[in-house]
Amino acid sequence: MAAVLVVLAACCTSPEKADLKKMDFFIDDLMEQMTLREKIGQLTLLEGEAYRSAKEGRKEEFIRRVREGEGGSVLDMYGARQVREVQRIAVDQSRLHIPMFFGLDVIHGFSTVFPIPLALACSWDMEAIERSARVAAREATAEGLCWTFSPMVDICHDARWGRIAEGAGEDPYLGSRVAEAMVRGYQGTCLADSTTMMACVKHFGLYGAGEAGREYNTVDMSHWRMYNEYLPPYKAAIDAGAFSMMSSFNTVDGVPATGNYWLLTELLRNEWGFQGFVVSDYASISDMIDHGMGDTAAVAELAIEAGLDLDMCSDAYAHSLEQAVRSGRISMELIDQSCRRILKAKYLLGLFDDPYRYCDTTMAERVVLCPEHRAEARRTAAETFVLLKNQGNLLPLQKKGRIALVGPMADDTLNISGMWSWCARPDQYITLREGLRKAVGSNAEILYARGCNLIYDAATDKKYARKYITRDSRSDKELLNEALSVAARADVIVAAVGECSEMSGEGASMVNIQLPDAQRDLLEALAKTGKPIVMLNFTGRPVVLNWENEHLDAILQVWFAGSETADAVADVLFGDVVPSGKLTTTFPRHVGQYPFSYACYNTGRPQYGDFQRCRTNYLDVENDGLFPFGYGLSYTSFDYSPITMSDTVMNSKGEIVASVTITNTGNYDGCEVVQMYIRDVYGSVVRPVKELKGFERIMLKKGESHTVSFSITEETLKFYNAACQHVAEPGDFVVMIGPNSRDVQQRRFVLN
Ligand code: NOJ
Repeated sequence: MAAVLVVLAACCTSPEKADLKKMDFFIDDLMEQMTLREKIGQLTLLEGEAYRSAKEGRKEEFIRRVREGEGGSVLDMYGARQVREVQRIAVDQSRLHIPMFFGLDVIHGFSTVFPIPLALACSWDMEAIERSARVAAREATAEGLCWTFSPMVDICHDARWGRIAEGAGEDPYLGSRVAEAMVRGYQGTCLADSTTMMACVKHFGLYGAGEAGREYNTVDMSHWRMYNEYLPPYKAAIDAGAFSMMSSFNTVDGVPATGNYWLLTELLRNEWGFQGFVVSDYASISDMIDHGMGDTAAVAELAIEAGLDLDMCSDAYAHSLEQAVRSGRISMELIDQSCRRILKAKYLLGLFDDPYRYCDTTMAERVVLCPEHRAEARRTAAETFVLLKNQGNLLPLQKKGRIALVGPMADDTLNISGMWSWCARPDQYITLREGLRKAVGSNAEILYARGCNLIYDAATDKKYARKYITRDSRSDKELLNEALSVAARADVIVAAVGECSEMSGEGASMVNIQLPDAQRDLLEALAKTGKPIVMLNFTGRPVVLNWENEHLDAILQVWFAGSETADAVADVLFGDVVPSGKLTTTFPRHVGQYPFSYACYNTGRPQYGDFQRCRTNYLDVENDGLFPFGYGLSYTSFDYSPITMSDTVMNSKGEIVASVTITNTGNYDGCEVVQMYIRDVYGSVVRPVKELKGFERIMLKKGESHTVSFSITEETLKFYNAACQHVAEPGDFVVMIGPNSRDVQQRRFVLN
């Protein structure tokens, strides 16, 4: 057949009308030749693992399905050679020769691993974030992939949920900017370019709002709340051109997202105008059986009717849709509509033009882990570290004397990549211990002791750390004594502690988000030595750091920073790079404060000043976080001038420019993230006490000043009212500008 005949791939993410016409014509022609079964095949994502399986008959069955057009795309298969092999079966041996696309969770880099997404957001550097996605796409496409299940844009207000690590944090404005940057980075301006890949926005929707932070749990909230707080990043990502969307595991208004017509059709397509396709999450169609939505046939019908195009590995579509159409329970138009969307993606990816576009077997050697990519990852990693405390300017350390490096994270190359790093190459990375030794050379001595295991209980350790952190078989006492004797010989202690990477990510909900017991005991013992201590905190979530903040001299939050962790940490520890990261999720005082957001609503009885009975406060903990949203210190200091305003009154067509002049008053050149928040004082619905509405990351040399100006227009002041209309209501507003969400100056203005 004609499918592989050369067609002009529309070479951009928003093709010209003529190209679209050509594409439609091509797809019409192809679909006319397709059987119902072949169309359903396009709606089926096959599991790549089957092709590699040693289990009898599994590989053969996979090949049979590809040959007979019973699958249109493949999950979890990469490597240009292998992808080429499977593509060849589809293209040469199937009746209509339709090429497949190949997808993987390329979440924060490929073999050059960037910091986990939560950390990346803390750079507030949208260009660096976009570049990280570009690098990921370059490496992934060199290995046969053209589709990534990223960005994850789920807003999360509860760090008990392990997947907070995978998103940009708690704020919808920042989350939207990050989502756009990631999509731009992956897709570039031309989907058919052999170095770009199709983004998949996930998880639609509201997956980050599961009750009690428990994985896959029920979500229930008003539409008003979802429109204002949770939906903006999904919309921003598709407005930026993302061509695919993944449905989430949770319910929305009582119906699982995967079978939710309102979500996948009314909102996504009719209201937002999404033109791409929707894939289910892994087996989330058949998961609806456990949700109690019916048997396989019923859930398959529910999903296709809701607007879910591609079945990820549950095979519910493959088993049920043919019969559903033949018996008239669902219409042929529904199948055609979804099939067309998938073929369109293939067309835009350029696969009909050249099915082997992403299978250049010589490319990977040239680009994967190349020096430029690693340098980019190192630079970016250093930008994501957040300096939470630096008493007496302990940091940066000098490259002299003796430095004791202790802790279970100090000598590791497996854990640093963080979750979702299938293609990490730990054999190519160095440990922190090696990184610090390299950085100081012969000028200083790095002494090392492990100090303790991740956690005392070996069984819990196994459950948490799985293969990522190996357990030291020495006794707790021996480990601690070794650390104390190393500390006794040192001038300063650097403690590399925290969670292991598997304690965040999918399926890693926790109710205790403090430092694990053995590590806390280690820190307490080290603190008793009276030596200055720097804590390097490796986590995939915000954690409770009250004790650490009280007793340690310096705390640097380093997350899981990827393949270049060691060098990036050394860069910041020794002051070659000045820290500039700022939190994008509040660090709470207590896990009981969740769900938490700095952008909360005033109740009718807000707390003003100290605790008062019958006000919105707790008896046993303060309302605010320990480290607020937007917070992060530097080695230098920045002075903020008072806010100047171009006007204090504006109308709906007008603009007010609010400006501050920032001066670097310290001893280092450094970057500052200047943040603007707005409060809408009166509204037809309650309005948050402040909301991020702008930010700028600036670089200032010592002594240098720079004026940052934020434009405020009616658009800036819009929100969703009770009817979920996007409106700005005239009245009083407060603009706040500062280095974080807490320490702001304010001015008032009026919208007429
Ligand atoms: C399940 C996860 O929820 C999703 O984020 C991921 O993309 C798929 N599995 C595919 O691996």
